[in-house]
Amino acid sequence: MGTVSTRKLAVVTGASSGIGLELARECVERDFDLIICAEDSGIHTAAEHLAKGGAWVLPVQADLAMFDGCKQLYQAIVDSGRHVDALLLNAGVGVGGAFLVNDLEAELKMIRLNVEAVVHLSKLILPMMVNRREGRVLITASVASTSPAPYLAVYGATKAFDLMFAEALRYELKDTGVTVTALQPGATDTEFFDRAGMDSTKVAEGKKDDPAEVAKKGVDAMLAGKDKVFGASMKAKMEGLVGEVLPEPTKAKMQGKQTKPGSAKNEHKH
Ligand SMILES: NC(=O)c1ccc[n+]([C@@H]2O[C@H](COP(=O)([O-])OP(=O)(O)OC[C@H]3O[C@@H](n4cnc5c(N)ncnc54)[C@H](OP(=O)(O)O)[C@@H]3O)[C@@H](O)[C@H]2O)c1
Repeated sequence: MGTVSTRKLAVVTGASSGIGLELARECVERDFDLIICAEDSGIHTAAEHLAKGGAWVLPVQADLAMFDGCKQLYQAIVDSGRHVDALLLNAGVGVGGAFLVNDLEAELKMIRLNVEAVVHLSKLILPMMVNRREGRVLITASVASTSPAPYLAVYGATKAFDLMFAEALRYELKDTGVTVTALQPGATDTEFFDRAGMDSTKVAEGKKDDPAEVAKKGVDAMLAGKDKVFGASMKAKMEGLVGEVLPEPTKAKMQGKQTKPGSAKNEHKH
């Protein structure tokens, strides 16, 4: 079913909470209509909320860790009859804890979401954008994308993938009118740490950035066609910059102190 609108369209994954919900809100504030996706029914509540300002918002409840979930989102875009002006690939989860004890299926599902879905959706949607020779892509990576992440070892590797994938695509698409931007948040106040089972860690109890500020930086950078942006505090920026220059063993030690289970000062409270 087609819709008649002169507004641009943004597709945002992981838009039911945290950074993704704020990315969607930023897009609405800049007069985009939305197709938003998440796994659970909260995506419908988010859509109702986001549509209050008059934007057209289509919620798609799909598990993007599944091949068919990505196809379901793509089909919803095709069925909308709209072209995609901005693609924000943000859905992602973490699995905290020691690699040797973490659940394999949880880690593989995370890889399917953080890596495979980013590749799958890019493969399906980018050709439409390149054909129109216009578009903006934002991929949510992390300040940890340039560091090993002990006790988040697999997650950290997925975020390194996201950053390198974004940068490589950006180069390949440089003459197409489509730009690719990587968003590299530092610790941000969302459901991420709780969902990752990291409540007993130093990083989870530490100061965190406001997801709205992270999202604003992300959308500003995406619309400006920048290659990457750290979000949102000076601390996150410093972590990101340090991550680009220090040797891997040093970064692993620094990260490990933050992410080790039981490293929180108030660990007994959790
Ligand atoms: N928070 C941080 O400190 C931080 C730092 C660096 C990078 N990031 C990145 O930021 C992104 C957003 O995370 P967040 O911090 O905003 O966490 P969040 O509040 O937990 O949001 C995660 C979003 O992803 C969706 N999602 C999870 N599994 C999904 C699946 N299988 N299929 C479709 N959607 C799914 C969730 O929807 P459901 O609730 O429906 O599952 C939710 O909308 C992630 O890529 C994360 O790696 C976060």
